[in-house]
Amino acid sequence: MLNKIGVIGGGYIGGVLAQEIAQRRLAREVGLVDPAPFVNPDDPPERQEVVGKQSVAIGKCLDIAEGLPTIGKDVKLVGSKDYSAIKGADLVINTAGVPRKARPDGTFPTREELLTINLKVTNQVAAGIKEMCPDAIIISIANPLDAIVYTLNKALNPAKNKLMGMAGQLDSGRYCYFVAEAANVSVENVNAMVLGGHGDTMVPVRSSCQVAGIPVTKFLDDETLKAIEARTRKAGGEVVGLLGFGSAFVSPAWAALEMAECIAFDKRKILPVCARLEGEYGADNLFVGVPCILGKNGIEKIIELDLTDEEKAAFEHSAGAVRKTCDEVETMSL
Ligand code: APR
Repeated sequence: MLNKIGVIGGGYIGGVLAQEIAQRRLAREVGLVDPAPFVNPDDPPERQEVVGKQSVAIGKCLDIAEGLPTIGKDVKLVGSKDYSAIKGADLVINTAGVPRKARPDGTFPTREELLTINLKVTNQVAAGIKEMCPDAIIISIANPLDAIVYTLNKALNPAKNKLMGMAGQLDSGRYCYFVAEAANVSVENVNAMVLGGHGDTMVPVRSSCQVAGIPVTKFLDDETLKAIEARTRKAGGEVVGLLGFGSAFVSPAWAALEMAECIAFDKRKILPVCARLEGEYGADNLFVGVPCILGKNGIEKIIELDLTDEEKAAFEHSAGAVRKTCDEVETMSL
């Protein structure tokens, strides 16, 4: 168990995280920061005063805390509109930023199109971490995932093991779910990894996909697998299109919690993680999804897989797409 987990952003994902950290008792204390609701300076003063007293973070913490006697969990919850709530956290999970949302005509932006707005938020996130918990291990969820992690790295320059992004666990969960559904077997039997960037170029690794230890190709034909892999790459958008109000929030939170549990309990489980590559997989100074051993120090080791030629080419293509977004980060911060 950790002493304290800080959650940055108390929206849909942040709310599930705070609730589940308490429910699973991953830490003695949860700190939740969110500046919302934002005061509009054009509003009449009395409205500004009302909004100034409201707080999503404090409200969600109080709501969860008041349920703790019912579920019998003794966890301290602290919320704030500034970054003081995450002071002294051992682990920070970053969800601050705008999610994708369906437009009135049903279309929606790509994750990369969130870059400009979420970069500004990420600079505040980095400043908050630097001031309140500079030694914390960081799991970042905000999109565009790989570029936001790259930005946090630029601003904070932490040890390689301490900064990572959550994407692969979510994308792999989606892949496994679709395989289980098509093969008509339990989700508990399916194992697979999705690597590369958290965008439409992500790489569902068929050679890693097994049903009860048996290669997936024993259960599903090539055409079905191709359709599943294509659906996996677009699965986030499928949920955005259905929800209408935002993007997936339960499965991303659970995926980040799986990573947090590995760290809190020093599990040394191998999960796909957006990690800093320094030569691994032929990439340098890039954050991309690769299998990692996760333990008490965060990323304990990056595992290099023997990918097929086709998978290798797909991984390189995906890393190239991530590089392009990171190059945009560089031009924007000039
Ligand atoms: N510091 C902390 N929190 C902030 C900041 C900031 N500087 N700016 C905005 N936030 C908060 C918002 O007030 C909001 O409550 O971040 C929260 C984000 O929550 P939601 O809008 O509900 O979005 P959510 O669905 O939780 O997704 C968060 O994760 O999956 C990604 O694309 C998604 O980038 C998005 C992020």
